[in-house]
Amino acid sequence: MSGLDIQAIRKDFPILDQEIYGFPLAYLDNAATSQKPVQVIDAVADYYREDNANVHRGVHRLSQRATDAYEGARSKVRDFVSAQSDKEIVFVRGATEAINLVAHSFVRPMLHAGDEILISHMEHHANIVPWQMLCDQVGAKLVVIPMTEKGELDLTTFDDLLTSKTKIMAVGQVSNALGTINPVKMMTEKAHAKGIPVLIDGAQAVPHMPADVQDLDCDFYVFSGHKMFAPTGIGALYGKQAILEEMVPWQGGGDMILSVSFEKTLYNELPYKFEAGTPNISGAIGLGAAIDYMQSVGIAELAAYEHELLMYATAQVGGLEGLRIIGTSDQKASVLSFMIDGVHPHDVGTIFDQQGVAIRTGHHCAQPVMQFFGIPATARASFAFYNTMDEVDALVGAIQKVQELFA
Ligand code: ALA
Repeated sequence: MSGLDIQAIRKDFPILDQEIYGFPLAYLDNAATSQKPVQVIDAVADYYREDNANVHRGVHRLSQRATDAYEGARSKVRDFVSAQSDKEIVFVRGATEAINLVAHSFVRPMLHAGDEILISHMEHHANIVPWQMLCDQVGAKLVVIPMTEKGELDLTTFDDLLTSKTKIMAVGQVSNALGTINPVKMMTEKAHAKGIPVLIDGAQAVPHMPADVQDLDCDFYVFSGHKMFAPTGIGALYGKQAILEEMVPWQGGGDMILSVSFEKTLYNELPYKFEAGTPNISGAIGLGAAIDYMQSVGIAELAAYEHELLMYATAQVGGLEGLRIIGTSDQKASVLSFMIDGVHPHDVGTIFDQQGVAIRTGHHCAQPVMQFFGIPATARASFAFYNTMDEVDALVGAIQKVQELFA
């Protein structure tokens, strides 16, 4: 068993200590958004209480403190993903904005009719729609790596999908709907062998496993703060410095300029070139605090504990009659999606709520996954390191309650 003191950890998350309809809250919707420890809440509140000012703009003390805290958070992100330089870390609203930035600044200028963009069947909509929009604009083609019944990527034809027309491969490291961990390092090597740049969507990975962009050797890596115990509205784009240097900005405005005249604007240096307007300063500071928190728990330790939780939940839930687990890869993180025979997932979610068990039901912003399995939606429990085996038992109890009600 894990050496983590889960009860001590739970005390850092005040929201977990409440009852819903008289039942202790079992928060199992971490893939939609995670809860925030007091260390993050305090970091954001302290910033507003003591240091609030705009960044990079003032000579006064508050602005200097705000700038130091904001840039300090960037260094924490750089360390968190093992990037080489702070210049490679761009603060954005989240993974979605990061992907849109790469689509517009990197891919759009080189994309022509007949070119291809390679994604996979299990992508989140955020890693489908921006590419589809680009393809529609220029007459390029969206090519999709297929999927198996276990919810794994079917890589039997992968080599053939990497062609001289492929302008980027964009794949998720962990599926938010299925929990599948994809072999992105091997896929990146193969794409690079054919000169194809790679974006990895790490939104569902970073809360659950160490991230190392140098080891993956990806060209871009994106993630959101809110799934990793940080506030909403903040995330990061990692890009290799040499590539970011060559890219034109996506959005124009303040902070991304060196000088402006009506004849010509000179862009700021990296990473500010991509941070137009006043950024989400408090969010970045909260993200830095979330990274500190995860590192104090130990990312390898939390990953190992979550694996135990997922294995226990899979055994308990998988042992029930009249239930189908959607996504049965051997390599999974955090997510247990399922269907209860004869019950719509939305009814499952409502009955669960009445027992204090919070899960997400729906298509999880991954409708092609639902289409693959021929289902409208799933019920999805998703775990974080503050969850307990007792909460897994509450999940099993809630499933049995649903089955009794619909018997
Ligand atoms: N993408 C988020 C989820 O998986 C919202 O629920």
